[in-house]
Amino acid sequence: MAERMGFPAFIERVEGLTPTLRRFVLRKEKQIFPPVSPGSYAALEFGDGEKVYKNAYSIVERSEDGRELTVIVRLAPQSRGGSRFLHEKGRSGLPVWVGSVANLFPIVKTARRHLLLSAGIGITPFLSYLRKLRSIGADYTLHHFCRAEERSAFEALLAEQDQARVSVHTALPSEVGLADWLQDEAIATHVYFCGPEGFMKWVEETTHRCGFAPGKVHSEHFFVPEGGRPFEVILARSGRKIAVKADETLLEALEQADVDAPCMCRGGACGACAVTVLDGQPDHRDHVLTEAERASGNVILTCVSRAKTDTLTLDL
Ligand code: FES
Repeated sequence: MAERMGFPAFIERVEGLTPTLRRFVLRKEKQIFPPVSPGSYAALEFGDGEKVYKNAYSIVERSEDGRELTVIVRLAPQSRGGSRFLHEKGRSGLPVWVGSVANLFPIVKTARRHLLLSAGIGITPFLSYLRKLRSIGADYTLHHFCRAEERSAFEALLAEQDQARVSVHTALPSEVGLADWLQDEAIATHVYFCGPEGFMKWVEETTHRCGFAPGKVHSEHFFVPEGGRPFEVILARSGRKIAVKADETLLEALEQADVDAPCMCRGGACGACAVTVLDGQPDHRDHVLTEAERASGNVILTCVSRAKTDTLTLDL
């Protein structure tokens, strides 16, 4: 088995923000967490004697002494267990393993203006953005979209921000005129967005329609891998066969079988878990592969994607 990388920590404090949002402060006693930058996420591992859960979360804040990391976790309706476990059993003192810390969604330092668009839990990477952009005197605006019943919770999260630069909306982006605002943005503006799939698709299409160059449009998809029909993987190098159950990911099945499978974000966003497919047809669910790569059928991102065929043979 591969050597385990990361940092042992524990939950120091928990705060309920809404019935479905909880803030967790993780603490390390001896060493400090690695440096982070706005947009960084941490892959966390936690659980009880029965099951281990592995999920990645945006880092909202790293304390000045480097011993605490703050994340906010939404209770996902289609949760395969991780967010539910944290909401129900994530109490002060619970051990949490902090695995890889990385940033796939950094601020573009050369941008003259930053437009941040978020919906729901998609605000989490921007909470660290806002602190940084304000501290360096950058030109920025945040529009956040949420359900009416969560408005006060998000306003409280943004209470210490420059209120002239942040807005919370409970209407849809199309209803508040976001398309017109995008149209009016200067050519030098970089747009960043994060939220649920419907919101992401709308912003993606609207920025494209408004003529934003692809290099000025940045997104972070947070993606809770969903289950699906069970299938079997065959590891070509050893001939081993591993069953992937309906409620687990291919990556989880590989890890459960002690296979050294690469991974980082665990959410279909980084590409680190790509494995060559030798036989069978993948059911792609990631945000990384190009259309040509999908069509070729010879690579799969194990953290989110599944199989359309009963078996998949992998180059592992
Ligand atoms: S681990 Fe990042 S895409 Fe799979």
